[in-house]
Amino acid sequence: MRVYCAEDYNRASRIAANLISAQIIMKPDCVLGLATGSTPIGTYEELIRRYEQGDLDFSKVHSINLDEYRGLSPENDQSYRYFMNRHLFDSVNIDKKNTFVPDGLEPDQEKACRDYEETIRAHGGIDLQILGLGHNGHIGFNEPGGVFEKQTHCVTLTENTREANARFFASMDEVPTEAYTMGIGSIMQAKKIVVIVSGESKKEIVKKAFLGPITPEVPASVLQLHHDVTLVGDKAALSDFPR
Ligand code: F6R
Repeated sequence: MRVYCAEDYNRASRIAANLISAQIIMKPDCVLGLATGSTPIGTYEELIRRYEQGDLDFSKVHSINLDEYRGLSPENDQSYRYFMNRHLFDSVNIDKKNTFVPDGLEPDQEKACRDYEETIRAHGGIDLQILGLGHNGHIGFNEPGGVFEKQTHCVTLTENTREANARFFASMDEVPTEAYTMGIGSIMQAKKIVVIVSGESKKEIVKKAFLGPITPEVPASVLQLHHDVTLVGDKAALSDFPR
């Protein structure tokens, strides 16, 4: 595993953007696995800047997002499709037809999951997967539990995760209780993985995930078994982390 410890969030975002830019330059028709949440916003801003400067071309890039709330439409400003449009897709020359987010409105859970697995398979898997890290060790919405779920599935969000995400909603009642998420198997099959972490509040879970036992109780711990993981963080998140 490679670790980049940056002075602050902005520099960490630039490093993550460097890694994504390198992927796009080396393979213009690559498949990016993308995440939402607060952490990658700075990275996406940096990618937009590079696109505007003429240094990056997204015209052949495909993207497959990790997750989506069940029951939210793409127009709902809390949906992850809306987030991706707002924070990246609307500002670069990616073809929206080539961007995939689980269908939060598909009432048939099994169909939603099957369709998403097929999307991942049809693209030949993911070249570079971007991940954030939940305070409870979740990746995507793979919550702590008894097993590593391999494929796309529907999850009941833990109260911990709903509370962490409530900051984006008008009230706790509006935070959805379920979500579709890519499984651990699909994430682990990505050729490369970049995990971005920021802030003191992530310090403990970063250590647990990357130095502790590999257990589904800390879903991100499975990343210790991946052959090409890069951890990018700011000092606040990585100060105690050995390099
Ligand atoms: C979002 C996602 C989540 C977040 C995680 C960290 O698509 O998959 O696993 O990466 O909850 O969120 P932030 O970055 O808001 O701390």
